[in-house]
Amino acid sequence: MPAVLTGHAQAQSTLNPAGPAARSLSGVSWFVYILFIVVAIVMWVLIWRMATRRRGTFDEHAPVDVGGGQSWVLVGGFIIPAIILAVIFIPGLAIMRRFPIHDQKMNYETAPEIRLTGHQWWWEARYVEGSPDMHFATANEIHIPVGHPVDIELSSADVIHSFWVPNLSGKVDLIPGQVNRMRIEADRPGVYYGKCAEYCGAQHAHMMIVVVAQPEGEYAAWRAHQLESASAPSTAQEVRGQELFLSSPCSLCHMIRGTPAGGAVAPDLTHLASRRGIAANALENDKANISAWVTHAQALKPASMMPNVTQFSGDELQALVAYLQQLR
Ligand code: CUA
Repeated sequence: MPAVLTGHAQAQSTLNPAGPAARSLSGVSWFVYILFIVVAIVMWVLIWRMATRRRGTFDEHAPVDVGGGQSWVLVGGFIIPAIILAVIFIPGLAIMRRFPIHDQKMNYETAPEIRLTGHQWWWEARYVEGSPDMHFATANEIHIPVGHPVDIELSSADVIHSFWVPNLSGKVDLIPGQVNRMRIEADRPGVYYGKCAEYCGAQHAHMMIVVVAQPEGEYAAWRAHQLESASAPSTAQEVRGQELFLSSPCSLCHMIRGTPAGGAVAPDLTHLASRRGIAANALENDKANISAWVTHAQALKPASMMPNVTQFSGDELQALVAYLQQLR
């Protein structure tokens, strides 16, 4: 397991729900588990009876009596499974009805709308709140206010991905050329990890997303900070790092708001240092990992779009990383 997934985060589990949708799903899960345990017990009793009934009296030349056997096949193989599937289907439909997502418009004062785009292999998140000056983008980590439903629009830039944060909700696919919607809500603060749940190529396993659910005040502070431009470098080393970033290919792919770096094909780095992970949370966000990611991305995540950037000397790399680490 990547280092970033350890620490204080909650384990990904559908059985530890932290929101209304996940709670309903975990209710159905328990119902299904208990039902299956009952079915398994009945099966083992029948097998035991069959195994013990004819002991000592079996005659391989006796005619086989299939009359009773056929009704067992009909009842046990068709009627009972049909009833069980119908009984599971009904609460499933009821849950789908309870989580309609087009019924009410969100109040952007208290909750954002997030446009989430799947890329091979990272998550682009755009916060959209009506006016264009209330927009910002982040990557691989979204924050939401506790106790408020948040609408997410899901689409893909390349292949099919799937958004799944087990503690908060079920899965919804991100499909190229189509916009899917879902609504998530957390009823207690926490850091909830999600994964891409649809095989999408070589680095599918390294496509994680973090959902940070915060009390309203903390969320508002995070949002206000994300709306700001990037912090300006202060030390000589950081200034040099910025010059290197802006004069190298880095700025062709990545955006840092408030600087000329305006690339739109890779994660927005404006507040990179405020995030928990890098490389779609495959690596913890620290100095050593950023250096390694810049110089050896193709060893860490082969086939990803991030190239190995080998043009920097040791001093230059340190300056670049110092600059990136002050983008809080
Ligand atoms: Cu994206 Cu699997």
